[in-house]
Amino acid sequence: MSSIKLLLHIQDENLSREAVRTLKESSPPLDFEQHDSNWNSLLERLSKSQPEVLLLDLSAVPGELNIAMRQLRYYSPSIKVIALHSSADPKTILAAMRAGVNEFLHPPFEDNLQPAVQRILTASTSEGVPAMRGKLIGFLSAKGGCGATTLACHVACELQNLTRKSVLLADLDLTSGLVGFLMKTPSSYSILDAIKNLARLDESLWKALIVQHRPNIAVIPAPASYSRWDHPDENQLRQVLQFMRTQHDWIVLDLGRSLNSIATAVLDEIDQLFLVSTLEVVALHGLKSIVHGLFEQGEKLQLVLNRTPKTMDITTQELEKILGRSLYAALPNDYMGLYQSYSSGNLLDSNNRLAQHFAMLASKIAGIPPLKNKKKFALFG
Ligand SMILES: Nc1ncnc2c1ncn2[C@@H]1O[C@H](COP(=O)(O)OP(=O)(O)OP(=O)(O)O)[C@@H](O)[C@H]1O
Ligand SMILES: [Mg+2]
Repeated sequence: MSSIKLLLHIQDENLSREAVRTLKESSPPLDFEQHDSNWNSLLERLSKSQPEVLLLDLSAVPGELNIAMRQLRYYSPSIKVIALHSSADPKTILAAMRAGVNEFLHPPFEDNLQPAVQRILTASTSEGVPAMRGKLIGFLSAKGGCGATTLACHVACELQNLTRKSVLLADLDLTSGLVGFLMKTPSSYSILDAIKNLARLDESLWKALIVQHRPNIAVIPAPASYSRWDHPDENQLRQVLQFMRTQHDWIVLDLGRSLNSIATAVLDEIDQLFLVSTLEVVALHGLKSIVHGLFEQGEKLQLVLNRTPKTMDITTQELEKILGRSLYAALPNDYMGLYQSYSSGNLLDSNNRLAQHFAMLASKIAGIPPLKNKKKFALFG
């Protein structure tokens, strides 16, 4: 594997000349390599050499920038991208920031290129050592009411039971999140407060924003009221998720329903997305279109069938064939059980059959064998 830290992919001749000259003249000079071939071979090279920083000419990106950024991060998860463009066109800058680039620069580069590269290289060196990297998983309902919130709450608790580690449950269903209600953790703060205070977000501020459901299970609920003007900056939202990883071992996100803008914005950041559906035709239709839209996510996307009836009209195999993917889990239907628990202000009791399926699901996600007394059911059947 090459140890080069800085790779340039610049097709515009003027930009290339200017960037190369600036890097060579910088003091101390910065080592770099240039990639002159096409996009696919760039992805291949990133995957092999894993440079720390990519100087990317935006005019060299085929198709949409946000898709290109996802591809870059898929092949080189920790890559930092400095986008270059011949002009400071506000629309281009906005699109670049929304797609998740780390910096945007335009000529002349003399004063800003070297400091930007140094800043990123220094930051990634210090990031590499002490930061704790928690796992981030999200639950998304194929359409409203499939069970994303129910799964997020129960799986978060089961992950804590199983791993004994610090778990955060974050409600990113900003318009109608119910996590705070179900977990009995009312709060005046939400993820939006973390985003607003990003510049001074540290451990002590974070502790003031979250609410403890019980030891080692913290909750950050959705805002009490939300209008479209409150829609968070997506880059900042991702930065808050990165911060969460430094504070908790597991972060469980309730992402609401269908492929909404928040779910799309956090996709690159999360490790595993669980798409929750029922057998209802409308839900399966939503499921299919989301699976289609996220085809490039590969194994990151997993399907969970919820409220599975005792006898299904089609077999699991037939369903998997229709969806073109295998099911990660199938959970039984227990409307009454959930109704009674929620009415009494609790989550399901651990003896409940559905609760035991949640425990099995958590154990599969964590890759840890289930606790002994819970090993009663298989995830299918
Ligand atoms: N396995 C299950 N068996 C029976 N009922 C369930 C199951 N999972 C969830 N439910 C019920 O389905 C309803 C919707 O669940 P939930 O709120 O978790 O879904 P959601 O996908 O988060 O919905 P929304 O789109 O409103 O956010 C609730 O009444 C819940 O109790
Ligand atoms: Mg919900």
